[in-house]
Amino acid sequence: MSSPLLAATGLVTQVGKAGLRAVDNVDIHLWAGEVLGIVGESGSGKTTLARTLLGQQQESAGEICLHQKRVSGVEPRRARAARRVIQYVHQDQAAALDPWWRIGNTLHETLRVSGVRNSDERKERIEQMLKAVGLHTGVLERYPHELSGGQIRRIGLARILSLRPEIVILDEPTAGLDLSVQANVLRLFKDMQAQFNLSYIMVSHDLSVVRLMCDRVAVMYLGKIVEVAPSQQLFESPAHPYTRSMLGAAPRVDPERQVQSSTLNGDPPSLMKTPDGCRFRTRCDHATDACSRHVPELETVSGEHSVACLRWRDLTSFNLTRSH
Ligand SMILES: Nc1ncnc2c1ncn2[C@@H]1O[C@H](COP(=O)(O)OP(=O)(O)OP(=O)(O)O)[C@@H](O)[C@H]1O
Ligand code: SF4
Ligand SMILES: [Mg+2]
Repeated sequence: MSSPLLAATGLVTQVGKAGLRAVDNVDIHLWAGEVLGIVGESGSGKTTLARTLLGQQQESAGEICLHQKRVSGVEPRRARAARRVIQYVHQDQAAALDPWWRIGNTLHETLRVSGVRNSDERKERIEQMLKAVGLHTGVLERYPHELSGGQIRRIGLARILSLRPEIVILDEPTAGLDLSVQANVLRLFKDMQAQFNLSYIMVSHDLSVVRLMCDRVAVMYLGKIVEVAPSQQLFESPAHPYTRSMLGAAPRVDPERQVQSSTLNGDPPSLMKTPDGCRFRTRCDHATDACSRHVPELETVSGEHSVACLRWRDLTSFNLTRSH
């Protein structure tokens, strides 16, 4: 069997002075050519996981392998250098661009910092990428505030693609865009994926975008992956109560196909007060005493579908009987 392009095992990332575990013992892999979605409520650790995979944030434990070579356990500068083929499209693209710099200067600087010294080569790469993302070279003279949200996304992608990545992490790639612009931007991601042989990790709140774009989806809750499955399986037969609630709460999921679900109760607890046992138990309608005593590990449901819930077997059969 082939090996994943990127694989993390037992990944822990601690944040802030208190050393809270924003990513807590995560196993995740990405196959070449795949689009992997990461979903979960605000604060569940999606960006921290993305930044750790990227090497921008140092892991406290665990291992990351790229092309089957270990790229973790080294100081941040070397970690990032070893992972140059992984690039990140920031959650807030506008903030990632310097407001006082013309777009052309920012694009040149990105390439210069990454080691492309020859300005003709930079110019050629930039023009090639602008063309690929459907922008005219006239944008090079503009400042960020003179561009639309859709144009900013295109610039963000052109900038990253000029670095010739293999893996692109897209953090909330459609946040703040109108629906029609979203559709264009998503089509652009698909086109670029085919044209440049990319694999994507797509972090998003928007389940309809994830369903449309992703081959496989991982669901995070308070720093842990609670379910991971091929996209179709996750949306049609979710096994974790959190995933079910999330799908139940999502406005644009097809009601015909939806399994029995409740919507989410309240907000997640803070990372400072994570419940013992299963972290979801304070919001779970199916919690029992055992759920406060045991931490559920990911178990295989079938094929590439895994879930971390002590009661997934009971709940799956409960659903089958209820829906007939
Ligand atoms: N540098 C930091 N210092 C303290 N806490 C942090 C730091 N970075 C992240 N956190 C905390 O870690 C948790 C995970 O944050 P993260 O940004 O990864 O979540 P997220 O899933 O990306 O959320 P969102 O959907 O809002 O972008 C949050 O509770 C956040 O407050
Ligand atoms: S382990 Fe228990 S509390 Fe956690 S999701 Fe499953 S049923 Fe709910
Ligand atoms: Mg985030």
